[in-house]
Amino acid sequence: MPYPKPSRRSWAEPFKIKVVEPLKTTTHEHRVKAIKEAGYNTFLLRSGDVYIDLLTDSGTNAMSDYQWAGMMLGDEAYAGSKNFYHLESSMQKYYGYKYLVPTHQGRGAEHIISQILIKPGDYIPGNMYFTTTREHQELAGGTFVDVIIDEAHDSESNHPFKGNVDLQKLEDLIKKVGPKKIPYASVAATVNMAGGQPISIGNIKAVRKMTEKHGIKIILDATRAVENAYFIKTREKGYEKKSIEAILKELCSFTDGCTMSGKKDLLVNIGGFLAVNDKDVFDEARNMVVVFEGLHTYGGLAGRDLEAMARGMEEMVEETYIRSRIGQVEYLGQKLIDWEIPIVRPIGGHAVFLDAKKIYSHIQQDQFPAQTLAAEIYLDSGVRTMERGIVSAGRDSKTGENRHPKLELVRVTIPRRVYTQAHMDVTAESILEVYENRKKVKGMRMIYEPKHLRFFQAKFART
Ligand SMILES: Cc1ncc(COP(=O)(O)O)c(C=O)c1O
Repeated sequence: MPYPKPSRRSWAEPFKIKVVEPLKTTTHEHRVKAIKEAGYNTFLLRSGDVYIDLLTDSGTNAMSDYQWAGMMLGDEAYAGSKNFYHLESSMQKYYGYKYLVPTHQGRGAEHIISQILIKPGDYIPGNMYFTTTREHQELAGGTFVDVIIDEAHDSESNHPFKGNVDLQKLEDLIKKVGPKKIPYASVAATVNMAGGQPISIGNIKAVRKMTEKHGIKIILDATRAVENAYFIKTREKGYEKKSIEAILKELCSFTDGCTMSGKKDLLVNIGGFLAVNDKDVFDEARNMVVVFEGLHTYGGLAGRDLEAMARGMEEMVEETYIRSRIGQVEYLGQKLIDWEIPIVRPIGGHAVFLDAKKIYSHIQQDQFPAQTLAAEIYLDSGVRTMERGIVSAGRDSKTGENRHPKLELVRVTIPRRVYTQAHMDVTAESILEVYENRKKVKGMRMIYEPKHLRFFQAKFART
C-alpha cells in the first residue's frame, strides 16, 4: 500500500540545533532500584537516571544563541544594572504594566503580593488553585475559593476555554463574604492544574466588569499567558488576525498586575517578576523584595539572568515559535487520543495530562493512582512525568483532611525547544505499553509526608 498522503501541510520548529546534550538510557533493573530509592516520587529521582525528562516545563527551556549572547552582556552591578532597565522596558512593552519588581522565580512574586494584599480572614477567588500560589495565599491568612467553570473539572469536556471563571460563583462569593474581604481575584492564564487550559478575553473582560465596581483587584498569573494568547488567537472569534503580541497585551490590560514565573514563557532557566500598576503597591513590593529576594533591581537574580528574560520576551511572541511549541504538545496528545488513552481534552498548552482515575479505575484515589502511573511510566522507559492529583492537592489548611480533587492526573510536560518529534513518539509508545498493562498494577501508600507542598518530597511504598 502506498504511504498515505498528508491531509495538511506540516509545521516545523523555527530553529536548528547547535549544541547537543547526550541522553542516557538505563536498564529496567536500574530503574526499579532508582524509583524505589526515590520513594516512588519522580521529583526525588536523580536526573542522571532519567531518559526523557517530561517532569516539568519550568526552567527546562533551551535558550537561543541570542539569549546566550545576552548572558555575556550581564551587568553584575549590585544596584542599577543595565539589564534591569532592559527587562523593565521589555515588560512594559509586552505585558503593559507600569512597575517591575524582579524575583528569583514565580513563587517569590507570589509571596510578596500575598503578604501585601491579603489580611487574615480574607478570601481569594481564582480559576482553580495552583500549588505555590495557594500556599502563599494561605500563609498570608487567606482562603482560596475555586470559582472556575465546572467544565474544568471534567477531563472529557471539550470546552475551548476551560480556564474561564464562573461569573455566578464569583458573584455568589462576593455576596456571601462581602467585597471588603476579597483583596483580589487570582486569575491564571493558562490554568496549569486544569490541564493547561486557557481563559478567553470575553471572560476576563466580564470578570473585570464585575470586580471593578466592588474595588476588587485582579492579579494575573501570567506564567503561561503567551500560550493562552495562542489559544485566544486560534479559538476566540475576532482574534484570528491579531498578533500574539497584541493579544497578550490586551489580556493583561484587564488586570492590575501579574506574578510571573519566567521559567516558562520567557524561555529561560531561572527568573521571575512581580508587575503592578498601583504605585503604593509597587513601593511596598520594592521594599519587601529587599528583605526576601535581593535589591529591587536584581531580585535574587544575576544581571545576565535579567538579560536572558528580556530577550526571551522578544522570542516568546514570535508566531512560528508558539505554533510549533503548542503543535508539539498537540502531536503527542493526538497520538494518545488516536490510541484511545484517556487524556484531558482539549489538549493543553504546555503538557498532555493523562487521566489516571480512568486509566487505573481499579485503584482508589487514597491509593494514589496518578503517583502510581508516573512511577510505572518511569519504570517502563525512563521517561519522567509527574503527579497532579490527590498528592499535589495536599490537605485542607483548616481541617487537616486530605483534599480529594476531581482530577487525578499525570502531567507529561514538554520543555520548550528541547525535544524532537522522535522523543514524543518514544514517550507515546511507553505510555501505550503502560496503558495496556494497567490491570496488573496496584496502588501505593504514603510513608513520608512533608508539611508544605508535599508532592515535591513525599515518599511512597507499594501496597
Ligand atoms: C501556573 C504557575 N504559577 C506559578 C508557578 C510558580 O513558579 P516558580 O516555579 O517559578 O516558583 C508555576 C510553576 O510551576 C506555575 O505553573
